[in-house]
This record gives sequence, C-alpha cells and structure tokens, in this order.
Amino acid sequence: MLAGKRIVLGVTGGIAAYKAVEVSRRLVDAGAHVVPVMTAGAEHFIGRTTLSALASEPVQTSLWDEASPIPHTLLGQTADLIVVAPATARLLAAYAAGLSTDLLTNVLLATRAPVVVCPAMHTEMWEHPAVQANVATLRSRGVHIVEPEEGRLAGGDVGAGRLAAPERIVAAIEAVLSAGDDLAGLHVVVSAGGTREPIDAVRVIANRSSGKQGYAVAAEAAARGARVTLVSTVDLPVPGGVVVRTVETAAQMQAALTELAPSADVIVMAAAVADFRPVVVAAGKLKKDQGIPQIVLEPTPDILAGLGASKPAGQVLVGFAAETSDLLANAESKLQRKNLDLIVANDVAAPGVGFQHDTNAVTLVQRGGEVDTIALTDKRSIARAILTIVVGIRAASTIPNSKRSLTK
Ligand code: C5P
Repeated sequence: MLAGKRIVLGVTGGIAAYKAVEVSRRLVDAGAHVVPVMTAGAEHFIGRTTLSALASEPVQTSLWDEASPIPHTLLGQTADLIVVAPATARLLAAYAAGLSTDLLTNVLLATRAPVVVCPAMHTEMWEHPAVQANVATLRSRGVHIVEPEEGRLAGGDVGAGRLAAPERIVAAIEAVLSAGDDLAGLHVVVSAGGTREPIDAVRVIANRSSGKQGYAVAAEAAARGARVTLVSTVDLPVPGGVVVRTVETAAQMQAALTELAPSADVIVMAAAVADFRPVVVAAGKLKKDQGIPQIVLEPTPDILAGLGASKPAGQVLVGFAAETSDLLANAESKLQRKNLDLIVANDVAAPGVGFQHDTNAVTLVQRGGEVDTIALTDKRSIARAILTIVVGIRAASTIPNSKRSLTK
C-alpha cells in the first residue's frame, strides 16, 4: 500500500524531531518515496544530513534556495500524502490560519493530497484553548490528526503531548491511503443547513441547524474522489472540489434536489428542512401597529420522501433523523416510510450532539436492519463512517441477482 507512494514528510522544530528519522526509515522500507521538508526550527534538533541520508531525496527547507523556482506547488501537487511529524503549535496555527511562512506551510496550502498531522508539545501548550481550536479547525477541514500520547516530555515532565510512536504514525498514513478514492467517478449530492421560510419581507421561520455535518460529508466525499454538489442554506467555507448551490426555502431546496437527483449516485440529505411554512407571505414588513398577526402554517413538501419515491435503481439515499426520544424506533420507521438505504439518527438532546456543535454521536441504521453506533466524535469522522457504509451498500447492491439489487 505504501509502495510507490510519494510522501512529503514535514518536520518542525520540536524535541521529537529525531523520531521523524524513524518514521522516514519505516516509510522508505515499506517502499514509499519520502520527500523530506524541514523548517528552520527543525534544524536546531536534527541535522539535515541525517534525514537526507535516510529519506529518498535531500532535505528541502526553503522556498528560495532550491533548484526548482516553485518547490511548494510542485511538492504539493505531486504528493500522494503529506505528513507532519512532529507538528509544533506554530505549525498548527499557521496551517489553520492559512499563513504561508516557510516551505512547509506553503506546501500544506498548495496541496489537495490528504494530510496527516502529528502534534507534539508540552502538556500546557497542547491543552491550550488556542491550540485545541486550531486542531479542531484542521480536523473540520479533513486533516487527519494523530493525537499525541501521554508520557515523559522534554525536561522530565510527564503528561499529554508526546509525539505518537512512529509505528502509530505509519499506521495512520496507511489507513488514510487505503481509504483512497472509493467514491471516484460517483456524483454525490449533499444537502446542508436549515431552511428558512419567510413570514414577511424580513422575518423567517428558521431552525438551529448549522450545516456543519452536511459540509463535513461533502468534504469527505470530495476527498474520496467523488464529484460533489452541495445544496446549502448556510455560508460556510466551501470544501475543495465541491460545487455549492445556495438555496433558502424548502421549496427552493426541493427544486434543486429534484433537478440533481437523476444524475446522483448517492444523496445525503443532511439538511434540516422545515416541516411547516406560512401559508401566506406578507408583502413588505408586518407592522406592529397592524396588531398581532395570525400566522397560519401549511406543511412543506417532504423532499426526502419524494426522492425515495422516485429513487432510480442503484442510487443510495441517506436521510437524517434528529430525535429527542425513541431514537431507534423513530429512525427505523422514517427509513421505511421514506424508502431510504441508510438513516443517520442523532439524539439532539444529548450534550455535544447534533445542531451547531462541532461534534456528533449517531446511530446508523441500514435498510437490512444493521445498526452501527458511533460515539461522540468530530463531524468529519461521522462523515467518514457514513460514507464507508454507503460504499458497502453500493458494493452489495452490485452483486448480480442479489436480494438487495431486487429491493428498491
Ligand atoms: O421526518 P423528518 O423531518 O424527521 O425526517 C428527517 C429527514 O427528512 C432529514 O434527512 C431531512 O433532511 C428530510 N426532510 C425533508 N423534507 C422535509 C422534512 C425533512 O427532506 N420537509
């Protein structure tokens, strides 16, 4: 799996930089081509000769003094994967902020390859809210973080912040490369965010959905090679390679999805669509001196049920179920009612789960009754689990004459 892969190994200035030599050696032994990049800080900890000797080519350190006039774009574009080990607090901050201060940060910003970052620092630094916020930002963008371990740190301290062992780093690289392009050639359509149903020219009926889970699914699908269209009601950073259609109301979302559905191999309906909307939208702004308005509501179209009713053969349809009670029973009945292949149920009353949080905990129920539970984790990891099941459903449905291929 590592054989023939071109891996940029970024090394920053931490005491654990010496372990990068071992990571490099293991990668080279497994057949990878290791391109070493060191920061100026790293050179205080290990000599570039050491790493040059054990990697596949000489160490590069600067944007300016190498043979190529644009080393960062070349390294970024040709890499199959970039790993930074160890990653200092400075590197995490610069990468999260998009600040290109040296060759390594330039390469990280100039790549679409998967990135594995292995932080290492003192416990106080690792636990600092600024560092944790940067880690969360990077995670939300699909960067794989190999968490540091607890143990002895420089200066004799003991605590969290020690660079992960080289074998763990290499295993993480293998796992990322093996996830690979399992959605290549597929069109994945994702909806995200809460709809807003107008009451008058300025007021809307809205809900608390942030759209973060849908964006994480879109980012993950794109990273796994899919062509991704995101139908969104919110304004979040657009993941690389994703095309966004902005909508506001349930009716607009339905129009966009009805148009996109026939060409979709997978539809993930993560949006929180309003169930009701005002029957009449007042022209202009309702005035206080006109008295208290009576707002009469009517149901919105159930977009997902409509997609389920006209689902083409082979398409995988995924719905969400935000529940506050009877999670599994409600999810299962929704799955049947809307003719879904998979439903992602979350208990939105639980702490850290669902709307607006960066984390989620879900129960994934498949059509055949198979149930997977994912404990509280970041939304990108939830996205990864959802799409892995989608890939499994597609694989099962392409077996000729299988039971699944006959069920609609
Ligand atoms: O029935 P319920 O609204 O709880 O189902 C949730 C699922 O149905 C979500 O995937 C949501 O996006 C979708 N939905 C929809 N149209 C609606 C209401 C919900 O597509 N009007």
